[in-house]
Amino acid sequence: MLTSCTTEKPAPAAIAATPGAASAHVPAELYDGLGARHATISPKFLYDALGSKLFEAICELPEYYPTRTEAGIFARYGREIARACGLGTTMIDLGAGNCAKAAKLFPLLRPAQYVAVDISTEFVSDALARLRLRFPHIDMQALGLDFSSGLELPDNVRAERRLFFYPGSSLGNFTPPEARVFLTRLRKGCGPDGGLLIGIDLAKDKAILDAAYDDALGVTAAFNLNVLRHVNQLLGSDFDIRQWRHVGFYNEAAGRVEMHLEAKQAQRVCWPGGGRDFAEGERIHTENSYKYRQADAIVLLEQSGFEATRVWTDPRCPFAVIHAQAIA
Ligand code: AVI
Repeated sequence: MLTSCTTEKPAPAAIAATPGAASAHVPAELYDGLGARHATISPKFLYDALGSKLFEAICELPEYYPTRTEAGIFARYGREIARACGLGTTMIDLGAGNCAKAAKLFPLLRPAQYVAVDISTEFVSDALARLRLRFPHIDMQALGLDFSSGLELPDNVRAERRLFFYPGSSLGNFTPPEARVFLTRLRKGCGPDGGLLIGIDLAKDKAILDAAYDDALGVTAAFNLNVLRHVNQLLGSDFDIRQWRHVGFYNEAAGRVEMHLEAKQAQRVCWPGGGRDFAEGERIHTENSYKYRQADAIVLLEQSGFEATRVWTDPRCPFAVIHAQAIA
């Protein structure tokens, strides 16, 4: 049976003080998404502290090929990659998470400065504290920042020879037009002598993609469902996680994997000042993961002010690591 929600207005101060709320406009974005005809929650809300740990676990899954495929490319072509990127750069790691990917490249790339940027401030700060002990000679700093909506770097980040490091195919979590806007921002941020080292997942067999985003152990399901727990913390909503199921599949026509949360039965979800009815089977769209053709990825980089200088791939599992230089 559906019950009604209280219409008492939320206390803005309480929302702003909620752990994980990166900025004052975060709750508004959530209200808008949950109130839309086809409800959405931005994928950035997948990454609270637990979500970041669940994503780490996803990267260990046999079905989730991107992490190990990319790691294989870094391991095999590390020296060539270092030659293309150059030594002594200011390496700015976007979505650094546990910083493991950058750390593996440090001995080859030997950056002068390392800046680990992640929306999950606590997670990235902890990772960096451990990394400092292993690489005391590299100047390092952690930045808790939602870089999807802006990339203001502090003054102590060197302006010369910036190398944005954006591995893991996270670009796929933007729509292609959003990706262009984001890459253009990176181009501006890296300066005329800067570059980009990026991992981009490429289109492949539907069965491989379906399994990668709906694994047998249910880790991806837990990762997706955890967003409701995070939203409950941020908004004070009362999503009952047991009433939702994970849906993840490759939409071939749209060229993307989609993740949704589907209501197991009709229900009302309340939050301070409002709420919403969900019908049985109704979905909340939580993530897209676009899979590019290599040629399209290169065009996208060019349209954003970068020239791809080298591309490394794995012939067994289509995935591209691309070094791109800023076009002056
Ligand atoms: C972070 N991002 C590149 C992952 C992806 O593959 O789109 C997030 C993810 N979602 C489900 N599994 C992994």
